[in-house]
Amino acid sequence: MNRLCRFAIASDLHIALPHTISPKPGFHLVEVSIPAFEQVLAHLEQLDLDFLLLPGDLTQDGEWDNHRWLLNRLEKLPFPTYVVPGNHDLIHPLGDDATIGMGDFAPLYQRFGYDNPQQLYYGCELVPGVQLVALNSTQFDPEGKQLGCLDEAQWQWLAASLPEWGDRFVIVMIHHNVLEHLPHQATHPLGRRYMLKDAARLRALLRANGVQLTLTGHLHIQDVAQTEGLTEILTGSLVGYPHPYRIVELWQEREQIRLDLKTYCVKSLPGWENLPELSRDWIAERSFPFMSRLVMGPPFYLQDEAEIAEAAKALRYFWPDLAAGDCTLTFPQLPLEIQAHLETFNATAKIDNQAIFRFQSP
Ligand SMILES: [Fe+2]
Ligand SMILES: [Fe+2]
Repeated sequence: MNRLCRFAIASDLHIALPHTISPKPGFHLVEVSIPAFEQVLAHLEQLDLDFLLLPGDLTQDGEWDNHRWLLNRLEKLPFPTYVVPGNHDLIHPLGDDATIGMGDFAPLYQRFGYDNPQQLYYGCELVPGVQLVALNSTQFDPEGKQLGCLDEAQWQWLAASLPEWGDRFVIVMIHHNVLEHLPHQATHPLGRRYMLKDAARLRALLRANGVQLTLTGHLHIQDVAQTEGLTEILTGSLVGYPHPYRIVELWQEREQIRLDLKTYCVKSLPGWENLPELSRDWIAERSFPFMSRLVMGPPFYLQDEAEIAEAAKALRYFWPDLAAGDCTLTFPQLPLEIQAHLETFNATAKIDNQAIFRFQSP
């Protein structure tokens, strides 16, 4: 067996320097973004890594200061880093004094994958035989409204480029989800904005070119989805419970590529000594409006206010426990039909955090 590479994935860093953090605490624990990332890097710097992948939402909200902090930190790493933008990195098409615009991202990150300052996507041979395809899923409509899709130029580039990499094992990195990671994610009002709008078109193009692996972020949960020959490793956020990051090894194993997936979590930081418990509670304390909307929406359609409040209260840990991956959740206090539906969120195979996957060799 021959090891092709060892690399790490850290997603949704949401880097926020103290002066950029709003005094009103938000849903993401951006207060720990920098110390958590520093702790991860201190671990990664001890490993013999070939590269680090960051699948978007690098910054809190696209601030120049936060992008500059990250660029400066990535420059100091002993291994190369490859990035793509997330919806939090490109807030306005044009940017302003405080936040970067679409045109600023590729020039800023030219040392981190972007070989063409005019393009928000690129291809790069990471190690011999392993090809990264880095896509941008944040676009704007003519009114300046943010969309999660690919633009036509990117589709054309991708369709023309993929056949050229047919003799390599291809890894596609993109912020928005290409496969569903929650039941009915593509159609559910709460889940669909985390999926790429034209995910079906991308899946078809990838399959037609023998691509088997995608790496995404955005949903802030640990999950691995497998559908019709495609495997998607979704990595949770470093600013949310359970503060995960992944270390991956690719091995050439006879006629197959073997992928060994391991997950690590930040467990303690100065001032946040019991980080997992604090951070699980942080989400639970803010989950009431989301859980209310969940039980008011399909397929529950609860209408009675007291019933909604009771269900939302019972579900306060639903999201953080789901975010940890490999979940087996039970809510015995809820009506049977709600329990039955929530069970569809449970993991059928425990592959979200530690697993071995095998792919066809190109
Ligand atoms: Fe995010
Ligand atoms: Fe995102």
